[in-house]
Amino acid sequence: RPPLRVALAGIGVVGGGVVRLLEANRALIARRAGRPIEIVAVSARDRHKDRGVDLSRYRWEDDMDALVAAGDVDVVVEMIGGADGSALTLARRALGAGKALVTANKAMIAHHGIDLARIAEEKDTPLKYEAAVAGGIPVIKAIREGASANEIARVYGILNGTCNYILTQMERNGASFADALAAAQAEGYAEADPSFDVDGIDAAHKLSILAALCFGTRLDIGAVTADGIRGLIAADIREAEALGHRVRLIGMAERDSAGNGGALYQHVQPCLVPADHPLAYVPGALNAVVAEGNFVGRLFFEGAGAGAGPTASAIVADIIDIARDEYGPAFAMPVDALDAAPAADAGAR
Ligand code: NDP
Ligand code: HSE
Repeated sequence: RPPLRVALAGIGVVGGGVVRLLEANRALIARRAGRPIEIVAVSARDRHKDRGVDLSRYRWEDDMDALVAAGDVDVVVEMIGGADGSALTLARRALGAGKALVTANKAMIAHHGIDLARIAEEKDTPLKYEAAVAGGIPVIKAIREGASANEIARVYGILNGTCNYILTQMERNGASFADALAAAQAEGYAEADPSFDVDGIDAAHKLSILAALCFGTRLDIGAVTADGIRGLIAADIREAEALGHRVRLIGMAERDSAGNGGALYQHVQPCLVPADHPLAYVPGALNAVVAEGNFVGRLFFEGAGAGAGPTASAIVADIIDIARDEYGPAFAMPVDALDAAPAADAGAR
């Protein structure tokens, strides 16, 4: 089969990781994809920036829209970030032109995923976003495909690597909040604006996506309440430990089994987790996701939730699926078949 032609938009932490992975595992990826994966263009803001990766063999495209319009690309990989702006414009244009779209951008999916999925359906082209939730853990595929026969009662877990890194650095090494955040940024875990991490917004984006997949509903980011860890001090961590607990930022979405029209609760908040609970053992920038299905039981996924390599792994897996023509609807079902999420009064719990 002819090579799958891929254009990379955004060559930062994640984009750099994708270039390195596609180069390092080129032959293996071509065998598994059934065809070579070829980078046909790359793009970012500053053409002259040193990115620690050799881009000289690739075409630099200042205007990614022109590339999409020119038609010499099959897949656009959006790694720019931000719910709106350039990322959204590119995503709409790429899907509208019938190109496949792969994105790591949970903010954009949380806010515009349904609109983008509609365009993808109209154009019969894939919209893939494995990297947007829990970094390298293939949890979108596992829930959307592997657990699709189950009624899911709740899904919860550690969804932000930066916060988990900060919490475990404070807990184990006595680091200050500020120093631990600076170290997470240096590792490439944090968002461009780290308040998205520490205020629980990034975890809320991911939770809204997981909830939509688990419950077969439309994404509703407005229904998620989020508190972060910004106000946490060392004494909070010590007191939790003295009580046999650890502090973890947990996102949880669950149906109200006691009635209330099956209301869907979606919360992100710092929680006291018993020290012997599996979530208390998740260290550093790892994430963990637990989903409870009525036939499969309790599923527990753990792995790297942030960073160049793990995120690139998820993105390239999406590209391989596209190369194999293996893809379905972006969410649990085609958009018109999804339920509206039954509203939950967040103040009621
Ligand atoms: P970076 O800030 O490291 O990289 C962003 C890239 O986008 C840069 O190359 C930047 O260009 C480019 N860019 C920014 N604005 C524009 C624009 N208007 N037009 C063209 N290019 C632009 O971010 P990350 O790589 O960390 O994150 C990228 C995406 O991946 C985000 O959506 C993030 O949420 C998501 N993500 C990140 C993870 C991580 O661990 N870092 C994990 C999972 C998802 P330049 O370099 O020239 O400034
Ligand atoms: N900033 C995010 C995190 C990146 O720390 O989890 C991965 O989505």
